[in-house]
Amino acid sequence: MPQKHGTRGRKKRSPYLFMILAAILMTALVIVGARAMNAWNLYETEAAVTPTPSSTVRPISVTPDPNRATPAPTNTPAPTPSPVPTATPSVLSVGSQGQMVKDLQTRLKELGYYEGNIDGDYGSGTKAAVEAFQQVNGLDADGIAGQKTLSVLYSESALPKPGPVDTLESAIPLLVNKWNSLPAAFEPKDLVTVKSVVGSLMTYERNDIQGVREAAEALARMIQAAINDGVSPWKLREGYRTIADQRRIFNNRVNTYMKENELTRSQAIARTRQSVADPGQSEHHTGLAFDLNVPGQSFGDTAQYIWLKQNCWDYGFIMRYTDEKDDITGIVGEEWHVRYVGVNHAQRMRDLDMCLEEYVEYLSKQ
Ligand code: DAL
Ligand code: ZN
Repeated sequence: MPQKHGTRGRKKRSPYLFMILAAILMTALVIVGARAMNAWNLYETEAAVTPTPSSTVRPISVTPDPNRATPAPTNTPAPTPSPVPTATPSVLSVGSQGQMVKDLQTRLKELGYYEGNIDGDYGSGTKAAVEAFQQVNGLDADGIAGQKTLSVLYSESALPKPGPVDTLESAIPLLVNKWNSLPAAFEPKDLVTVKSVVGSLMTYERNDIQGVREAAEALARMIQAAINDGVSPWKLREGYRTIADQRRIFNNRVNTYMKENELTRSQAIARTRQSVADPGQSEHHTGLAFDLNVPGQSFGDTAQYIWLKQNCWDYGFIMRYTDEKDDITGIVGEEWHVRYVGVNHAQRMRDLDMCLEEYVEYLSKQ
């Protein structure tokens, strides 16, 4: 059969074949390219997220609540990690401006440290948030976001764990102090309004003061026993505090010292730390601590204090901060501050004459 001109000796190839071959080649190039990019990103991420362990702060071990292991519904949902900035400068500090500062503010906000505007201006609010983050994460709290702070900030470990924590689940009482911080998003499980449990046995600084239910129930038994012994009245000044509450209290005290005692900022911070815990380092954040009060009197001078000191142990409370142990607790004596640990631990601590730091160490060596 005669062949048409120009096609002699060769089969005619379909134009579709070339298109298919070209498409296969392009796909292969895209896959190889993406793999190379991915490997680079992994390298960069790994380099950026490895936090340097602190030598000064012992991280707290919060016994995981089984409910936390599964992503159960929670009222504090974990934020989606924000992207790691691609061109991280070595240092961001007061006066820095621009997108990197916006990224920083966004990250601090999603982690619960920053409440201001995402305006890209590194001012005092951003600095305070960086300091709070550094404190909670055992970094040098200088308010400067250097490489170390930024790498911890953008790491997985900075993300809040979802869900409230059972603060009484562990065999060893939860220890919160200058060396054992709680994560910013820490939230105790089973918080109740103390008034709903203790009722008219006492009065309240605010009607909405909260505490962990078991601790509030123990408080009710204790106050009832004191009243039965003829010791009253009682007022509740403080219970559960969020990290934001603690930050506000801490900053207010710093400002007061600066104004009224004419201290420099760093002097005022040092003085504040003797009696007010840094955000993340307050027992009030556990929902297990209460501040008691007798209206119009200094608590240390009252019959209520004497009764409390003798009897609190039998209701599961300890006198958390005493002048005798202030070198170990890091906080000067606070007669009014009681902490719930349960009757068994409280009575043993009384018998051993140990503060919580000593007792936790003692138990961990058993
Ligand atoms: N005043 C105690 C130490 C606190 O701030 O938690
Ligand atoms: Zn207190």
